[in-house]
Amino acid sequence: MKKELQQIIEGSTVPEDDVHSQNTLHWLLKLKPDADEALQIAALGHDIERAVEERKVRREDYESYDEFKQAHALNSARVLDELMRRCHVSKQLAERVFYLVCHHETGADRDANALRDADTISFFDVNLPHYFARNSFEETKRRWLWGYAKLPENLRVIVAGFHYQSDELRSLVKKCTGAA
Ligand SMILES: [Fe+2]
Repeated sequence: MKKELQQIIEGSTVPEDDVHSQNTLHWLLKLKPDADEALQIAALGHDIERAVEERKVRREDYESYDEFKQAHALNSARVLDELMRRCHVSKQLAERVFYLVCHHETGADRDANALRDADTISFFDVNLPHYFARNSFEETKRRWLWGYAKLPENLRVIVAGFHYQSDELRSLVKKCTGAA
């Protein structure tokens, strides 16, 4: 199942999806070294719908960014659930993964919160330069502030330590940190 999951994500048209999947697991294990199998699968597959071109949700179809992210989480949970069923993953494990992926943007219980935090940190660690390459300065600023606001205060220091190559991105982050 994990092999098939990885193949699907490697096929994504979003170039950072593959590294973000692995990097979210990396941060999850830093935040929660005893993360169980459900949580680890959820970390690897939480954005799977983005890799399935004919299924993925699109920003322009939703009024607000939060609604879009909610639809993205539910859609990923469904796509991952179908994969787990195809691969005969136990019902109990599949149900837990579904729950975690459904709540990966907002958090819910302690595990879902750890997944949300790992995903959020990973966005700043590996996705942000890619996001900036595809989006305007203002949109990237909005996305930075949206992600930063989700992070518990004790984890914000991690994000503050990330270094970016592009001068323009560094100045954007400086502006954002001042505004946050
Ligand atoms: Fe993500």
